[in-house]
Amino acid sequence: MESKTVITYGTFDMFHIGHLKLLQRAKEYGDKLIVAVSTDEFNEQKGKKTLISFAQRSEIVANIKCVDEVISENSWEQKPDDIKSYKVNTFLMGDDWKGKFDYLENLCNVVYVPRTEKISSTQLKKSLINFTSIPKEDILRAFEVIEVLKRDFE
Ligand code: CTP
Repeated sequence: MESKTVITYGTFDMFHIGHLKLLQRAKEYGDKLIVAVSTDEFNEQKGKKTLISFAQRSEIVANIKCVDEVISENSWEQKPDDIKSYKVNTFLMGDDWKGKFDYLENLCNVVYVPRTEKISSTQLKKSLINFTSIPKEDILRAFEVIEVLKRDFE
């Protein structure tokens, strides 16, 4: 039986559990997983500010167990060419992109999978500003308060 190839695209800045789960889910759709990581130039074009460089983001993704190959994402328009040249069977993204790539359905299967809740690179970046300026004791105290409140509401 011929092997099945899956492709997904993303920035993967400050690699987190949502990214890992997305890649693991993607691999379940085939035998080979290709990840197109957005270059710094492309992120700039998209107005996306990254903390980690393209070289490091792609090295991290390439070393995730379920990832077989990393390519660079340089433009919005490259997807049809990638699908043809890598003989892709399934194009997969998180469901924040639902419907956006249905135009690729004449080339391969298009799948959107549920995002992991409550985490994103944007959120992590925002929390850094507060995290570094608030004393650790205050953060720990805030967590204690949250735990007490949670108990009261259970
Ligand atoms: N993703 C996910 N669950 C999350 C965050 C991301 O499944 N909690 C998925 C996205 O749907 C996408 C891939 O991971 O298919 C790469 O997303 P990326 O935009 O790099 O990650 P985000 O954390 O969403 O980054 P940002 O906040 O900058 O949009």
